[in-house]
Amino acid sequence: MADTLTVKDNRTGKQYEIPISDGTIPASALREIKVDDEDFGLMSYDPAYKNTASCRSAITFIDGEKGILRYRGYPIEQLAEQSSFLEVSYLLLKGELPNQSELDTWVDKITHHTYVHQYMIQAMEGFKWDAHAMGKLVSLLGTLSTFYEDSKNVRNAAVRDEHIIKIIAKMPTIAAWCFRHMQGRPYIYPDNGLSYAGNFMNMLFRMAEPQYKPDPAIEKALDVLFILHADHEQNCSTSAARAVGSAETDPYCSLAAAAAALYGPLHGGANEAVLRMLEEIGNLGNIPGFIEGVKNRERRLMGFGHRVYKNYDPRARIIKKLAHEVFAVTGKNPLLEIALELEKIALNDEFFVERKLYPNVDFYSGLIYQSIGFPVEFFPVLFAIPRAAGWLAQWQEMLMDPEQKIARPMQIYTGAGERAYVPMDKR
Ligand code: CMC
Repeated sequence: MADTLTVKDNRTGKQYEIPISDGTIPASALREIKVDDEDFGLMSYDPAYKNTASCRSAITFIDGEKGILRYRGYPIEQLAEQSSFLEVSYLLLKGELPNQSELDTWVDKITHHTYVHQYMIQAMEGFKWDAHAMGKLVSLLGTLSTFYEDSKNVRNAAVRDEHIIKIIAKMPTIAAWCFRHMQGRPYIYPDNGLSYAGNFMNMLFRMAEPQYKPDPAIEKALDVLFILHADHEQNCSTSAARAVGSAETDPYCSLAAAAAALYGPLHGGANEAVLRMLEEIGNLGNIPGFIEGVKNRERRLMGFGHRVYKNYDPRARIIKKLAHEVFAVTGKNPLLEIALELEKIALNDEFFVERKLYPNVDFYSGLIYQSIGFPVEFFPVLFAIPRAAGWLAQWQEMLMDPEQKIARPMQIYTGAGERAYVPMDKR
């Protein structure tokens, strides 16, 4: 059986053989299908890239029907249980798990690049104190690029490595400083004696104590949440990182673009939207009315549904369990009851079952974040910190891929044909 697709163009009666590889056809082969020599050739039309592979990637595998997520072949459940976020970052970026000495070197390098230039404080002070933390993070990522002129040299592997380490190291610092700025509290400098998550907590929460000691259960929970959010193949923000990076833009600005995509309520902003929704529902009695509103399409059930997962999101299952572990330390989040009941009702309702709408990663993560003490507008920032590792791995893979070029989708022009300019007095 030949791996080809035979296509007959009924406009001309001509037949074409298009190769099939990896379950795809090259869209460029359609260009050969023409009515005559003047014809541009066929294109495929795929708004929102619902059925278009934009790259080859060896980083993350998802089987949405079966609810499978693997980084470099390792199941997310095993990584969440046994690995650490920094080890997972190494895995995503380098393709293999590190041995002990590779891991030690990696952790050491990241730990020693956590400081940011003092001028970043001036940049921060330019924001209104109550500006959305994600808007600040997007801007500060772009600002960081202005400190590292050499990062524009994206074709140099050593330069890339250096800035990958800097970004992973500095994300918690700028994120934590956004948080402190929001609260009008002094910025806390990194403590290199702490873990990645522990130091993040230090920069967020330390007050007058000479040395901050993170609660080990919360530190572990944050690290697991970081692992779960580290990559998710070609989603909206990763595609933004790849598209912007394909212009050979430096990694800081490429990641600023990715973070801007993540900001949206349909993507990384969903965890914030879930919490606002649960607060609005307020008590169990309001759930049936809320569900009716969703079914009448007045609104969406935030934290439900996914473009790829049409089974349970495997990250949601891990987070649900994690939530109980965090609540054992922080006390139960009163909104948990509403979330559990909402999930129960939705999972048994034909509207949601028919559309294969299940809780996604954001449904329970917000409850954990809130219990740890984060305001809702900070939630997407907590998503962006670990996702930076995934964005960088994907950005680097794109740059190394000889098949990639500057991203440039085609369009179907639907506007007016040529017409003469109309002077103002004739309009
Ligand atoms: N509540 C109610 N109905 C929904 C929802 C929802 N959350 N999600 C999808 N639907 C319905 C939608 O109305 C449509 O129904 P119909 O076919 O009758 O018109 C059907 O399900 C298919 O929806 P879609 O909008 O075509 O699906 P999509 O793949 O374009 O959207 C999604 C995926 C995640 C944007 C969407 O499910 C959604 O808006 N969910 C809520 C926001 C959310 O939780 N986002 C976080 C995603 S996971 C983390 C991340 O990627 O950042």
